[in-house]
Amino acid sequence: MADYVEASELERQKRYMIKIKASNERFRARTGRAPVAVTQTYGCQQNENDTERIRGMLQEAGYQFGDDEKTADLVIYNTCAVRENAEQKVFGRLGILKHLKERRPELVIGLCGCMVQQGHIAEKIRETYKHVDLVFGTHALYKLPELLYRALTENRAVIDVENSDGRIAEELPILRESGSKAWVSVMYGCNNFCSYCIVPYVRGRERSRTPEAVLSEIRSLAASGVTEICLLGQNVNSYGKDLERQVDFADLLRMVNGVEGVERIRFMTSHPKDFGARLLEAMAECEKVCPQLHLPFQAGSDKVLKDMNRRYTKAEYLEKIAAVKQQIPGVALSSDVIVGFPTETNEDFEETLDVLRRAEFDSIFSFIYSRREGTPAAKLTPVLSEEEIHRNFERLLEVQNEISKKKNDAYVGRVERVLVDGPSKTDPSVLSGRTATGKIVNFKGGAELTGRYKGVRITQAHTWSLNGELVEHQ
Ligand code: SAH
Ligand code: SF4
Ligand code: F3S
Repeated sequence: MADYVEASELERQKRYMIKIKASNERFRARTGRAPVAVTQTYGCQQNENDTERIRGMLQEAGYQFGDDEKTADLVIYNTCAVRENAEQKVFGRLGILKHLKERRPELVIGLCGCMVQQGHIAEKIRETYKHVDLVFGTHALYKLPELLYRALTENRAVIDVENSDGRIAEELPILRESGSKAWVSVMYGCNNFCSYCIVPYVRGRERSRTPEAVLSEIRSLAASGVTEICLLGQNVNSYGKDLERQVDFADLLRMVNGVEGVERIRFMTSHPKDFGARLLEAMAECEKVCPQLHLPFQAGSDKVLKDMNRRYTKAEYLEKIAAVKQQIPGVALSSDVIVGFPTETNEDFEETLDVLRRAEFDSIFSFIYSRREGTPAAKLTPVLSEEEIHRNFERLLEVQNEISKKKNDAYVGRVERVLVDGPSKTDPSVLSGRTATGKIVNFKGGAELTGRYKGVRITQAHTWSLNGELVEHQ
């Protein structure tokens, strides 16, 4: 059973929110405006979901939100550690914030999330980024009110990056991005320890929320008009293994499928080694579960898969893909791929291309291997040169782009049920939405359609998106 943050502790945090709010009221009386917070998220959906919690707490503490650091009173970056470039971006932004802080010393700068959960990074920030006022790791999210209060009142940096397996904090405030779609974390952490990956070190061991907690969150989302739910976990197939009650992710899907008001259910991420018949059956039987699956394969060579500690073979993976295609007609498949794992040769890489050609994913997320301090793979010496790795990466994109375009071409002429996300940022007369299979569709329409399901006839296919036109009577 996962440990929980006690109700009394959450009450204590609430009292800090009230204290900050009182001080923000005084700020407003003095300046004629509420203090402005800017948040920025790096990394995965889990991090986006955590930022929504951070914003929920900040809202209760009397902040309003903006998106320009130059006019902000509080900046919080929720960071990612999965690849080096995610960290470089944050260090780059911190350089810019240093100048802002020199001009406006009252600006409060906070860093949180996976990157700062690593000891060597927390140390580097403590020593060389002295303009950062507040640093808190993934396990300290619920303590934000107390830590922020201290950062506002004490004249020194407040740092809480204690390493723990993490406790679950239920019922934290939340301010969500969208009114029609919501992410719901069903479990936290990861036990898989893929040899290249930092996530298990910065997110701790797997811990599942109870089905009751998940369902109660989803019921209240549905009551507020949310119709699409995305269930989140680093490896959702492990859901329930740590719970006393016998319940797994397939059971949870069926329970969520029964919640009135929910129309679409998605989930990510599944690990191929744990993706089995029970889950596939639940996907096929639950009418609200979208015909979409993200199943990262990472590499095609059995040798590389073994070195990655992925615990499946290429043949096993392809068998699972074949079963999914057979049982869920029209399913859209996506995957994650790493190019340039240290032991990967050019011949190994050909196996990765072979998986792309056989599986025919609708889309992939592809990454060049990034060495992560503290992981087992960090000790390996790469066999390919950077140049060769980049050349392979380009080939990967070429092969996949052709497949993605072909998959999208098949949609032309069809009428798809699209959940409208809202007007596009570049042209407000164009709406953007998603099909049940998760494809982005752009079409002309008014902003009032945001959050509604509309019939859209697909007129044109691109590699990454579709164009269409509204079918008026649908
Ligand atoms: N738990 C999920 C997602 C983990 S992070 C899963 O297992 O699929 C998302 C993706 O980042 C991974 O699937 C992997 O493709 C990539 N990734 C993780 N560590 C990496 C590293 N060190 N270098 C490059 N890509 C990495
Ligand atoms: Fe990382 Fe592997 Fe866990 Fe995914 S399953 S988060 S790649 S260790
Ligand atoms: Fe990055 Fe942390 Fe997610 S390392 S990918 S933000 S779990």
